[in-house]
Amino acid sequence: MKSNEIRKTFLKFFSDNDHTVVSSSSLLPEKDPTLLFVNAGMVQFKNLFLDIEKRDYVRATTCQKCVRAGGKHNDLDNVGKTLRHHTFFEMLGNFSFGDYFKDDAIAYAWKLLKDVFRLDEDRMWITVYKDDDEAALIWKKVGIREDRIVRLGEKDNFWSMGDEGPCGPCSEILYDLGENVGCRQPACAVGCDCDRFLEIWNLVFMEFERSRDGQMTKLPRPSIDTGMGLERIACIMQGKLGNYETDLFSPVLRRLEDISRSVYGENEKTDTAMRVIADHVRGATFVINDGVLPSKEGRGYVLRRILRRALRYGKKIGIEKEFLYDLSGAVVDIMGDVYPDVRNNHPYIVRVIKGEEERFLETLNTGMRVYDEFVKEIKSKGGKAIPGDLIYKLYDTYGFPVDITAEMAAEDSLSMDTAGFEKSLEEQKERSRAGSRIKGEAWAEGHVAALRDDVRNDFVGYKTLEADGVILTMVRDEQVVEQLDEGEEGEVFFDCTPFYAESGGQVEDEGLVDGPSGKAVVINVIKVKQDVFAHKVKVTMGSLKRGDRVHLVVDKEKRKGVSRNHTATHLLHYALRTVLGEHVKQSGSLVEKDRLRFDFTHFQGLADEELHKTEDIVNEKIMESLNVTTEERQREDAIREGATALFEEKYGDTVRVLRIGDFSTELCGGTHVKNTGEIGSFSIVSEGSLAYGVRRIEAVTGKGAVRHKRKLDNIVKHISRLSNTEPDRVLERVEGIIGELNTKSNEIERLKEEIIAHRVEEAVKNAEEKNGAKVVTMYVPDAKADDLRKVTDIIRNRLKSCIAVVGTREETKGMVVAAVSKDLLSTYSAGKIIKKLAEQYGGKGGGGPQIAQGGIPGDKIKAALKSVADILSD
Ligand code: GLY
Repeated sequence: MKSNEIRKTFLKFFSDNDHTVVSSSSLLPEKDPTLLFVNAGMVQFKNLFLDIEKRDYVRATTCQKCVRAGGKHNDLDNVGKTLRHHTFFEMLGNFSFGDYFKDDAIAYAWKLLKDVFRLDEDRMWITVYKDDDEAALIWKKVGIREDRIVRLGEKDNFWSMGDEGPCGPCSEILYDLGENVGCRQPACAVGCDCDRFLEIWNLVFMEFERSRDGQMTKLPRPSIDTGMGLERIACIMQGKLGNYETDLFSPVLRRLEDISRSVYGENEKTDTAMRVIADHVRGATFVINDGVLPSKEGRGYVLRRILRRALRYGKKIGIEKEFLYDLSGAVVDIMGDVYPDVRNNHPYIVRVIKGEEERFLETLNTGMRVYDEFVKEIKSKGGKAIPGDLIYKLYDTYGFPVDITAEMAAEDSLSMDTAGFEKSLEEQKERSRAGSRIKGEAWAEGHVAALRDDVRNDFVGYKTLEADGVILTMVRDEQVVEQLDEGEEGEVFFDCTPFYAESGGQVEDEGLVDGPSGKAVVINVIKVKQDVFAHKVKVTMGSLKRGDRVHLVVDKEKRKGVSRNHTATHLLHYALRTVLGEHVKQSGSLVEKDRLRFDFTHFQGLADEELHKTEDIVNEKIMESLNVTTEERQREDAIREGATALFEEKYGDTVRVLRIGDFSTELCGGTHVKNTGEIGSFSIVSEGSLAYGVRRIEAVTGKGAVRHKRKLDNIVKHISRLSNTEPDRVLERVEGIIGELNTKSNEIERLKEEIIAHRVEEAVKNAEEKNGAKVVTMYVPDAKADDLRKVTDIIRNRLKSCIAVVGTREETKGMVVAAVSKDLLSTYSAGKIIKKLAEQYGGKGGGGPQIAQGGIPGDKIKAALKSVADILSD
């Protein structure tokens, strides 16, 4: 069975058994700080297990994209060494959210493997958690021999997503690939780390939630989470001995054989390298497709690690140039039908990979040399470890991810001073972190005391800009207070608020608080957490008291401006995708009253024509006066229907979908205009590079656009007045002026030279003779050091044999340059002449025998020049 068919068969089996087929989520968990990448099928359902979210199904089935490179489930080090581990893989799963439990989970799994996939029963083994008698009994009931059921401990048979979250005992189904696979030791048995007993399916009996401090609480309802690696089941179904020989990998290996001229299956070392490369290029392709760019931190760093590791392995099998970008084509050939976005984004993926390859290859050789030199030195001194600062230098200057250095160290039998490295890294991070804390978090920290559970607000600001609210609590200088008095500032929490809190790039509202005994202005609003907004206020009259019912009024002008700019960012996003292509993805934004900033993935600067087209499309959509509508939807439905979601945004179960006309659908919690016509007009102010592969556009709308245009108009008018020309001819005029200026500058230069030549003649005429040598001195007005040197050259050229000393002054500072022609060097030295002058006139300086320079007070320059001959005769 081909892997595409296995996927389909799996999903159909569970869909026939009343499971809703849910599409794979992105590899990037929705703002889940506990997780780097989605590492299992259950991640997108985490809140359903915890019962803090409900959907309209209680059974689901998925084929989920997963990455296990970093965090709790990290297979990176095993990739290549084994035949079964991957950074990226697809996990087939079925899930019950408080519906069926162990009985059905086991029955379904067994039926699918035995009756549908028709696996050989004699090769199958089962593991259960050491004291899970219930699971063992169910397995016996479905027909597994007792001696095939093995009980293992926590490490093998207790599953959790990360250090916290839903978890539970599990039961695994293994397949014996035969004695000739793996360690080939007589003692090899289920539980051995080798490739022989292949774990194909893990059934997790979700019963607990583990908290950060390790506490286990029972889940409200026992649930089921299962995971079967597609690559592994394909390996068995296709009668292979390892995942890399399945149709999911073999075309990548074939292409790699072409590129490297190595053959897979001939030599273990080469095979390992080829497996690492094949795995990593696939992982990189998918990670980039979901919006990650190589960087120094977090997910970007994982991506950098796998790309650079693959490159180093490429070098090991003799590939010296960029090749991964090309190899990613083979991944797309295999996966493009199932994941069409990977095919659509392929040109973009190629660019990201190629860019990273070019950058690393540039430093790889130098980095290796630095490493080799150090290692030689370490070894010659009998050292046993790579010092932390070297690991850091390789990491920081040469872009060697730590695991690459670790691999090289292992090859040289050296250990790593990881603690020293962490220290260097922490020091660097601390430097760059200073001052850049996330505002919301910083606020929340100071307000823990105030944030009782009942402090939460209804946000009514989508519908109205004025509302009444009751003051629930107030904070001043991090202390909870009962009252804020005139002139005082503090943070106020209401039960209901029309104020938008800064989020999703949109700045906060400002406005007024009108209470029974005082008034205040709202300066800032921070979302401390969902439905908890801290309103930073300054009391302008009387006082505000806890429990006061107050009237809240949002500043309409600011809100209106911000809303115009927010809707315009959606139009801009659409226009950029239309003009530049589908690879354009929003990577950040700032929406303010007067302007907007939009960051997006793209590789080159935009040509004027592209900028104009983009601007035109946005303005057309404004002129079409299209309705902007919002709708609350089930998240899964909205995504399925094609709504764009931002990577970093957290969306709950119900999401707000913002539609403009029939061409733009995005999940968005911001405020918007009701009709695009309200935006008025849109102008791009600037475009530039923000980071590798990320561009930034700044633009203005509405009154901001009018102001921008007026500013430009005023500049033109001013120039036209100054240059005495009509505005539409000012360009021509300015070009003319610049041309004239250039001609005049050249003329001035020429005249200056003439004057100097003339003065040189004068000076030469007045030259004194000392001991047979001609001494020429000259004062040069308005000169720089370079000019003085040039003048000494002219004199030397003119006389061949001479001593030339020239000087100038600028206000109080004087400067002298002395030069001695070669034939006089046995008697005189320019350096000495300058030293003597400096000594005599209170300055300093020096230089070589042929030319030297010094500084002396400006008012002494002329006297100094006059005295040169005397100094020489001393
Ligand atoms: N969530 C089950 C597994 O990843 O094995």
